[in-house]
Amino acid sequence: MSSVSEIMETMEYGASVEDSSAVRDWLKRHGAFGHFIGGAFTRPGRTFATRDPSTGEALAEVTQGTADDIAQAVKAARKAQRGWAKLSGSERARHLYALARHVQKRERFLSVLESLDNGKPIRESRDIDIPLVVRHFYHHAGWAELRDNAFPGHAPLGVCGQVIPWNFPLLMLAWKIAPALAAGNTVVLKPAEYTPLTALAFAEICQQVGLPAGVVNIVTGDGETGAALVGAEVDKIAFTGSTEVGRAIAGRLAGTGRGLTLELGGKSPFVVMEDADLDAAVEGVVDSIWFNQGQVCCAGSRILVAEAVAARFEALLGARMARLRVGPPLDKSTDIGAIVDPVQKDRIISICAAATDAGAELVGGQPGQGCFIAPGYLKNIAPANPGMEQEIFGPIATLSTFRTADEAAELANNTRYGLAASVWSESATVATDLAARIKAGVVWINSANLFDAAAPFGGWRESGFGREGGRAGMLDYLAPPEVKPAREPAPKPVTAAPDGGAGQAGGIDRTAKLYIGGAQKRPDGGASYAVPGGLAPLGNRKDIRNAVEAAAKAGKWAAMGGHARAQVLYYIAENLSARAADFAALTGKPEIEAAIARAFHYAAWADKFDGANVQAKPGHLVNVIPEPWGILGIACPNAQPLAGFMSLVMPAIAMGNRVVAIPAQDNPLALADLYQVFDTSDLPGGVVNIVTGARKDLAPVLAAHDEVAAMWHVGPPDSLAAVERAACGNLKPVWSPAHRDWTSAAAQGEDFLRHAVQMKTVWLPYGA
Ligand code: NAI
Repeated sequence: MSSVSEIMETMEYGASVEDSSAVRDWLKRHGAFGHFIGGAFTRPGRTFATRDPSTGEALAEVTQGTADDIAQAVKAARKAQRGWAKLSGSERARHLYALARHVQKRERFLSVLESLDNGKPIRESRDIDIPLVVRHFYHHAGWAELRDNAFPGHAPLGVCGQVIPWNFPLLMLAWKIAPALAAGNTVVLKPAEYTPLTALAFAEICQQVGLPAGVVNIVTGDGETGAALVGAEVDKIAFTGSTEVGRAIAGRLAGTGRGLTLELGGKSPFVVMEDADLDAAVEGVVDSIWFNQGQVCCAGSRILVAEAVAARFEALLGARMARLRVGPPLDKSTDIGAIVDPVQKDRIISICAAATDAGAELVGGQPGQGCFIAPGYLKNIAPANPGMEQEIFGPIATLSTFRTADEAAELANNTRYGLAASVWSESATVATDLAARIKAGVVWINSANLFDAAAPFGGWRESGFGREGGRAGMLDYLAPPEVKPAREPAPKPVTAAPDGGAGQAGGIDRTAKLYIGGAQKRPDGGASYAVPGGLAPLGNRKDIRNAVEAAAKAGKWAAMGGHARAQVLYYIAENLSARAADFAALTGKPEIEAAIARAFHYAAWADKFDGANVQAKPGHLVNVIPEPWGILGIACPNAQPLAGFMSLVMPAIAMGNRVVAIPAQDNPLALADLYQVFDTSDLPGGVVNIVTGARKDLAPVLAAHDEVAAMWHVGPPDSLAAVERAACGNLKPVWSPAHRDWTSAAAQGEDFLRHAVQMKTVWLPYGA
């Protein structure tokens, strides 16, 4: 006779399938769906089938949206926007509460529909996706109520176009729609072609709760429909999806003046230190790369484990992996469901094949019948192996080792992405040190894939820019208080002086130099151009490269901390004051007064522009930390050369950035005396670098440079468009503060600081 424990060991799990009859009735009732425009469903047009990926069964027909459908939806959103924005915060909040409550009431229905359309295990859609959707609408109902208190003077952007992927269909919809509506915008949203059904069910909920017509519009279709939305007359595009499409969208929007946030791919490190709780870390892998079949942008897809514990970790991992159940999504005991579509399954298989061809060994990870792939990992994998570089977007991690914490940090950052990271160590010192060093928008300490509406989420580098969730997320759907725009004069053409200016010395009193790495440097080409007061060096692309290189060497500036940086800025302010009369002779009094004011103002802010500890989940310490970009490129205004320069450069360096600035083209000599002020104020060499010359030649080179993390640009639209196009390559954000009187109070404030940093969200569960 078998003992109880033997029976428990050998007992097979019986299927425990969630009832899908209500969903199937709903699908049958509809059969084919049109779009949801202006509060009503349109008649179905040219349709395509959306399928259950676990069986291939067609669930419903949905309409392929045309450019005309998009235009109608944008028109409806535009018509509704003014009325929606005019509602009081409380009124908008009530609509969002109603949406939250109605989604909550239909949790079971929506979970089943999501699992059918996407293939994800019901356990996940029921326990993670849909509860987070509800939480998101509740949280943002609060922001709607509080908008005018929390963001005084801010206004909605207008109509937002939103394109979402298929991995968390309803959750991504909530992440996009809730903040947009709370801020007073209206939206046109395009769900992914593989998973449109929960968005259509949500449209019905909008009708049922009496959301004003046109506030939410949903147009279904594929990438062409998405592209039509990107090209439409909207005020902002918010996109989540692949890096390739994100880059194309950034290129398309260059020069349009429209807002853009991008949440793109990742290849996030999952770092297991020698002193980690290995059992907990193995559970972390399950929640990380084997969650949602690995189709998660922030999945911990690169497992890096300390060499000393690698063998033990792998043994535990293998044992746990063998117990994961791959099976029908609606079975409540399924751990791993279906891949969303055969196309994605083939993609995963082909990346794994390329990885093994290049020498890696695949453990597990075998494809099954239909859209199923068993969990697995690639080992013995070289850093340049395609499996190590490309986002596999399936249940396959990579496993490699490191020896020291320095090596772990280096490997973790050895990627073009920067979305998330998971760090495992029982030592708070080790874990927080790594969390600080890893370049990622979200870091989970002793945890993985935790999300909450209050905790900003978003990436660095090629993982995109902008944040979703919390205060930072709201700001991406709001315009700051309006400033009175001033006209920015187009710069005069630059002509190189003959003989590098040597022959012109008579009558012209000075030949300035570039300022690179804390030293005055001759321009690479040896040329100068005539400007009021003398000759200015004519910088070229080599000078820009040298300046970026000098900035790269000045990385200690960020680590010095706000207090130490403040001392340097105060010193600059004092030294400027001492030489105010000299500067006034060059620029006039208002400019030097503004320049001094900026140095004092941002010295004060340097140790006070704080993040927050947000109430994401009980029992979790969740810190939102402002971090400098690194190297910031700044194309300064042409008018008011000194005030414009200082209004931009001071907030940037106060927050810990290093700067490469292109000063006013027409009048850069107003800055020549600044070099000495910087030198005598203990500003470390390389923190501020100045390259003068023709902005149209220099700014795009700076914007295209791989080591420059973000660009600020003030100048005419054609120059901005060129900079935005150049910045698309490595997806750096470009901020273009409105032209204004740079001596006025409107040229100073928190908006500048906000753009000088990006938020990093660090999660630390209590008692983990
Ligand atoms: P995708 O980026 O093509 O699709 C995402 C969304 O963008 C869908 O709604 C799609 O219809 C739309 N879209 C496609 N082309 C567009 C265009 N030119 N303009 C505007 N919208 C467009 O991603 P896809 O092809 O479904 O997946 C390919 C890979 O992308 C995945 O294997 C994964 O590596 C990555 N991906 C990353 C996601 C993330 O959450 N970061 C989500 C989905 C995919």
